[in-house]
Amino acid sequence: MKRQFLITGDGSITIHLPEWNEQYHSKHGAIAEARHVFLEAGLHKCLHTFPDQTINILEIGFGTGLNAFLTLIEAQNTNVEVAYTGVEAYPVVLEEVEKLNYTELVAGATELFRQMHELPWEQPNELAMGFRLIKQRKFFSEINEKEHYHCIYFDAFGPRVQPELWTEEIFVKMFRALVAGGVMVTYSAKGSVRRAMQSVGFKVERLPGPPGKREMLRAAKPS
Ligand SMILES: C[S@@+](CC[C@H](N)C(=O)[O-])C[C@H]1O[C@@H](n2cnc3c(N)ncnc32)[C@H](O)[C@@H]1O
Repeated sequence: MKRQFLITGDGSITIHLPEWNEQYHSKHGAIAEARHVFLEAGLHKCLHTFPDQTINILEIGFGTGLNAFLTLIEAQNTNVEVAYTGVEAYPVVLEEVEKLNYTELVAGATELFRQMHELPWEQPNELAMGFRLIKQRKFFSEINEKEHYHCIYFDAFGPRVQPELWTEEIFVKMFRALVAGGVMVTYSAKGSVRRAMQSVGFKVERLPGPPGKREMLRAAKPS
């Protein structure tokens, strides 16, 4: 599918898919959305629930690596250990990575962004002290881990274009993959998405959304 590059509201670049009229991030700000939805509502919540532990994060849609990059920087700043798994079926290529401007906008770890993309798939790597990354090239439907992750960044393309990814069938896999007390966060606040999460056992909260969105969802696996 054709990929184009678009400058979002906070100056950070995202990828646009003209065939679907869909973006990898919010048009109102890719970095702003990533920080608000995944770091503040997801990672920070887990740091509070699971203090002094390595936080295991699963990302649904590694894409440009923006969420992983911001998480790495946050882990270094807060002195927290993170083991990050990014699942992706259609990786971006290095030529595309070079068109992204995240390292110009976010201080720190400039070299690491490129290294993150150069790392081989399927091999765990200590990318930086306290930050382990494994990129898994596979479909979300192939995720079968049990009670391993503290946090899931659910960052699939929206339910308008990939409704099959926002179903009970996928959410039950996410529920199983989380430890008790773990959370899954996503930018979508659609009613049908919330109900599908609830029907597999999640306790779902509606939280204020990132710029341009009224609400987002945080789904917790009850303790
Ligand atoms: C919204 S983008 C992810 C953005 C990413 N988190 C970032 O920070 O750039 C969704 C990603 O899911 C991937 N994807 C779409 N369908 C998939 C599937 N069935 N299994 C695995 N990956 C899929 C796409 O290739 C795309 O990279």
